[in-house]
Amino acid sequence: MNLAPLFTPVRMGDLELPNRIAMAPLTRMRADNPGHVPTDVQAAYYAQRAAAGVIVGEATAVSPDGFGWHDTPGLWSAEQVAGWQRVTEAVHGAGSRMIAQLWHTGSISHPDLRAGALPVSASAVDPVQRSVTAAGRVPTVTPREMSLAEIRRTVADYAQAARNAIAAGFDGVQILANFLYLPAQFLNRATNRRTDAYGGSIENRARLTLEIVDAVVSAVGPQRTGVKLSPMHESGPFQADDETLPAAEYVVSRLTGLSHLLLMGAQTDFTGTPLAGLSGDAMFAHFRPLFDGTLIANTRMTGERGARLIETGLADVIAFGRPFIANPDLPARLAAGAPLAEIDWSTVYAAGPAGYTDYPVFAAPEPAPVRG
Ligand SMILES: Cc1cc2nc3c(=O)[nH]c(=O)nc-3n(C[C@H](O)[C@H](O)[C@H](O)COP(=O)(O)O)c2cc1C
Repeated sequence: MNLAPLFTPVRMGDLELPNRIAMAPLTRMRADNPGHVPTDVQAAYYAQRAAAGVIVGEATAVSPDGFGWHDTPGLWSAEQVAGWQRVTEAVHGAGSRMIAQLWHTGSISHPDLRAGALPVSASAVDPVQRSVTAAGRVPTVTPREMSLAEIRRTVADYAQAARNAIAAGFDGVQILANFLYLPAQFLNRATNRRTDAYGGSIENRARLTLEIVDAVVSAVGPQRTGVKLSPMHESGPFQADDETLPAAEYVVSRLTGLSHLLLMGAQTDFTGTPLAGLSGDAMFAHFRPLFDGTLIANTRMTGERGARLIETGLADVIAFGRPFIANPDLPARLAAGAPLAEIDWSTVYAAGPAGYTDYPVFAAPEPAPVRG
């Protein structure tokens, strides 16, 4: 199939992308230092992937309170800003653009990551997941319900992290509002039992996400602000219910004038769940009319599927996550129809350059020597 639609330029917010291939955000746990400062190996890793039209950086904690995954970076200290500056310089030097993903883990954090303090969330509900601590994956605990003052401070933390991102040379920011993290913990009925303005109705449960968006927009401008959000069917209390889709629709329809929406298609089998109608490309068809910015479609993409989504108008940009891990030159491989390398999962969440910056670019096999 003709993949040309993937290789045409497109505007995303105030950025001109030379192609429609985005690198999806990928946590890789290489910020292995007590200050949560991005490291030089991260700069090298992202620069290797600069053929992407835009790179969305790995989830990055907005504050010490939002930190909740061992060896991941932050964006609240001067040291972290300086570390990210080295990363964005490397990416810009290699010719791409890079966006910071803003993260608050809420109840996915763990006392072992917080000097013994309980993690915070919408309500005191154990998310029944795994926290990633220095000792490995351990069961989550029951978090502490956030006070209204803490909610206000958290919203301000996002705005400050967005300012820090721009100071660090990022070309924009993306608010991580899906999976199991703080905005999702507020949006999801099973993890939000509040009776104040942040709980109860969909409007109230969405309030935190929309306040974060407003604060970030005020800090860095709508054309540099995007959101990652999708209705999901996950484990524990995050299983989709009859309000999961209406809640996602409500939030997306209020994201007006923003740079982009990174929308994940089904990652799990939606059969028999309230999201059954959103399998395959139906996710993109459903949300496309609700969002007025650049729509980035993600999850299990191939070159063919991405080109088709662009050609049929269901997406503007295609984000590849896992394929970028083992294929630093993914756009060139797609263009050439070259085979994709497989991921070595043992080094995905590991330390140092092995399995991180040592995946080779594609080399066409030498033609067999002609024997005379
Ligand atoms: C190793 C790994 C780390 C990930 N880290 C993040 C992350 O930091 N932030 C995020 O929003 N999504 C994260 N994701 C999800 C990806 O961004 C993407 O949405 C998902 O992998 C589906 O895209 P794919 O099928 O192209 O891999 C991660 C996925 C993987 C496999």
